[in-house]
Order: sequence, then structure tokens, then C-alpha cells
Amino acid sequence: MAKLIYFDVVGDNRGNLISLEGLKNIPFEIKRVYYIYGVSDKEPRGFHAHKELKQVAFCISGSCEMLLDDGERRESVLLNNPNIGVFIGSMTWREMHNFSKDCVLVVLASEYYNEDDYIRDYDIYKKMVER
Ligand code: TYD
Repeated sequence: MAKLIYFDVVGDNRGNLISLEGLKNIPFEIKRVYYIYGVSDKEPRGFHAHKELKQVAFCISGSCEMLLDDGERRESVLLNNPNIGVFIGSMTWREMHNFSKDCVLVVLASEYYNEDDYIRDYDIYKKMVER
């Protein structure tokens, strides 16, 4: 269910470089980038879905677990590599757990921030995805 995206790494003896481009290695136009850091490992985040928004998430430092739920199945992906992102489509419930202290989680988003796009209640989400 979780769709991983492997970014090409341009590496040489000076180190590594990764380039992310909208509609190329990222499957949408990137309108917003945000990052989460300075997190507590005891405080999970997320616990919502988006009606329209699509995102790609990856850790450029440290690690966290991204739990994805499509209403039928749940899957947890360990994000611990700057060259592996996970695609999070619309109407996907997500939770982030087990942040390492050094975690920097970067999220690329297809739309500007819009609180109206959030579904923050799991029971409402389940009803909306029921066929
Ligand atoms: P939220 O999306 O709930 O964070 P998480 O899913 O990581 O737990 O957002 C936390 C707060 O930050 C909330 O008050 C909304 C605000 N926020 C913005 O102002 N802009 C943004 O792009 C995002 C993602 C959140």
C-alpha cells in the first residue's frame, strides 16, 4: 500500500546531493514545504487525513515511523533515509510515531496550508472512505 519513492543520489568524494523536482521525481507540483524537528519520541503526531492534499515525506536526519491507513489496511514505514520518501495520497490517514531526537522530517505538499482540507476524526474518516 505505501508507495516509496527512491530519489537519485548524486554522490562523489565531497558527499551526496539529492534534487527534488515537481512533476518529475515528485508526482505533483510542490506548493509547500514544511519540516518537523525538535520532537519528543513520546509524542506521536499526525492523526489526520486530507481530502485533497498529496504529500511526500522523508527524514533528512534521524528517523520516524509513518503509519498509513487507507480505511481497510494499516502499514507502517520506517523513514530513516534521506533518499527514500513515502507518497501519501489524499484520503489516507497518517500517524507519525517513534521520532528519534535528531529527526528532521521534511514534507512536500501539493497545496497551500488549508485547515478545511483536514479530517481529524478517525470515525468520520472511516465513514467517508467506506464503500
Ligand atoms: P498539524 O498538521 O496538525 O501537524 P502534525 O500533523 O504534524 O501533528 O499542524 C500543527 C500546527 O501547525 C497546526 O496548528 C497547523 C499548523 N500548520 C501550519 O500553520 N502550516 C502548515 O503548513 C502545517 C502543516 C501546519
